[in-house]
Amino acid sequence: MCGIAGYIGPLQAQAVLLVALERLKYRGYDSAGIAINHDGEITCRKSHGKLTDLEKITTLQPVLGHCGIAHTRWATHGIPDSGNAHPHSSGDGSIAVVHNGIIENHQVLRDDLESAGVLFSSQTDSEVIPHLLERHYEGDPLACIRTVLPLLRGSYAFAAVFDQHPGHIYVARQGSPLLIGRGKGQQVLLASDIPALLPHAHEYLQLQDGQLADLSSQEVCISTFSGDTTDLTFLPIELDVEAISKGDFDSFMAKEIAEQPEILQRLLESRLHQGTLAQPDLGIDLRHINHVVFLAAGTSWHAAQLGKRFLEHLARVHVEVDISSEYRYRNPVASGGTLVVAISQSGETADTLASLRLAKSKFIPVISLINVLDSTIGRESDGIMPLLAGPEIGVASTKAYTAQVLALYCFALHVARVKGQLSTSDLSHRIDGLHAIPHLVAETLRASEASITEAAELFTAANGTVFLGRGGEFPTALEGALKLKEISYVHAMGYAGGEFKHGPIALVTPSLPVVCICPRDAMYDKMISNIEEVRARQGRIISVGDADDQSLAQLSDHLFPIQRCHDELLQPLLSILPLQRYAYHIARNRGCDVDQPRNLAKSVTVE
Ligand code: F6R
Repeated sequence: MCGIAGYIGPLQAQAVLLVALERLKYRGYDSAGIAINHDGEITCRKSHGKLTDLEKITTLQPVLGHCGIAHTRWATHGIPDSGNAHPHSSGDGSIAVVHNGIIENHQVLRDDLESAGVLFSSQTDSEVIPHLLERHYEGDPLACIRTVLPLLRGSYAFAAVFDQHPGHIYVARQGSPLLIGRGKGQQVLLASDIPALLPHAHEYLQLQDGQLADLSSQEVCISTFSGDTTDLTFLPIELDVEAISKGDFDSFMAKEIAEQPEILQRLLESRLHQGTLAQPDLGIDLRHINHVVFLAAGTSWHAAQLGKRFLEHLARVHVEVDISSEYRYRNPVASGGTLVVAISQSGETADTLASLRLAKSKFIPVISLINVLDSTIGRESDGIMPLLAGPEIGVASTKAYTAQVLALYCFALHVARVKGQLSTSDLSHRIDGLHAIPHLVAETLRASEASITEAAELFTAANGTVFLGRGGEFPTALEGALKLKEISYVHAMGYAGGEFKHGPIALVTPSLPVVCICPRDAMYDKMISNIEEVRARQGRIISVGDADDQSLAQLSDHLFPIQRCHDELLQPLLSILPLQRYAYHIARNRGCDVDQPRNLAKSVTVE
């Protein structure tokens, strides 16, 4: 949530920072701003709304200088307007600050500052920081920051420029991610995420919680809040600019949906070796695990529900799935043999991180299934299962979801093998069939496109959609509904088919599209009954089903054809694909920005 960036070097900071903000805008896009310290004078430019507005302002009124900070905002405290846009300045304009996180005790701090005569110009929690810095500044920015830090409660990564110290940026981190990058020609960068360090930085390090830094083109000095200096270990940046650009696609979402065959192929190559499973070493003896708890949020939570089905069915292990924001406030029972698996694309989701920490405090081993490996969840886990999906930039998760589902299936097979729950022939049948998955994904995307665009054309104006699925397709229904609502703002609900008659069926009218996920699996006949019930009430049926299922096609207004998977358990990996494209088309038809849906941010690093 919120993205921050900084630059010191020979280039004009404004241009570098605008590119960095472009790469960070998935973290929030309610407003944006930059502050540049040029020879001791700090100039800010800010705008409400998308980055293009800031680009226009800075084109008309460019700010010159080689040292600056920047911010793209996801509003927490204070409405999204230009007054609340960062950077925030001290009363005398001598200090400017960008902040990511939440200062939980901001009201007490604000009251105190206001009673001392300080005038605030925004409603944000963040603005207390520059005012506190101004109050405690006596010529040494680091000493000043060290005095202020103990006053702040909550999570933060912030960067500050002080007019009396041109060429320097001061940063501190407690709970929100912050990376420092170095590039050729004495360039020093700072950003909430690696893509925003490109193309100027070739190496980076993660600032750790409890650390602050003084950055200049001469030197990067990191120390702890209490003043101990820290060794620097920079890592090479392996990401290339190609991986974070849209290429020929109109949106990152479209690109990421299309990338799925390739990504799943890469994942399989990492998990299969000469016909056997090659699971990452998790440092845990899985033979003794008899209880698994999946913790996740949003789309990752939907993947977790499939993980439960896989593990229960294949490995006969008792599994719970919990929403991380709920688990973290419970008092879970810790028993021997329990394993927690945190699932997170970003590896930074605040609730999932907090629930991981709770589990660890109870001495439960924690492994994580993550896409961003150098993330806080990754670092705090006992073992990591990498997703290898590459950077996911579209706010709606697509490729990370299918990678999670496939990785969880491989994990369940691995646990089943370790625990001796599957016969050799059963295991090899399930493993062998995996090789066809990338092709089946590509074919499903290709063959379903025509009927998806046709249905999307007809239902663009529908103001609600219901998704029904049973068994493994219930999570597909939840995920299909989430995709639609988050990018097209159409109200959508996913229900277990069997629950439909217990209330939601009252929604059915001749104008309601009901998406029925109905592959020929064990629940097929039950889903057909659901379809009949909707038809009897003149609802409109969009079904997701086998390409050759003529009777389903006849019962449906539209059929999104999918390929058959070798293992029914894994069929939901294919069923979700047309629903990703359906959401994409509806959103586009409605004129919505699919990569930056309103009110959302990709990485939810606040509670
Ligand atoms: C929806 C979506 C979100 C995330 C959720 C968890 O398309 O992307 O629901 O799945 O915010 O994020 P991660 O997986 O990064 O923990």
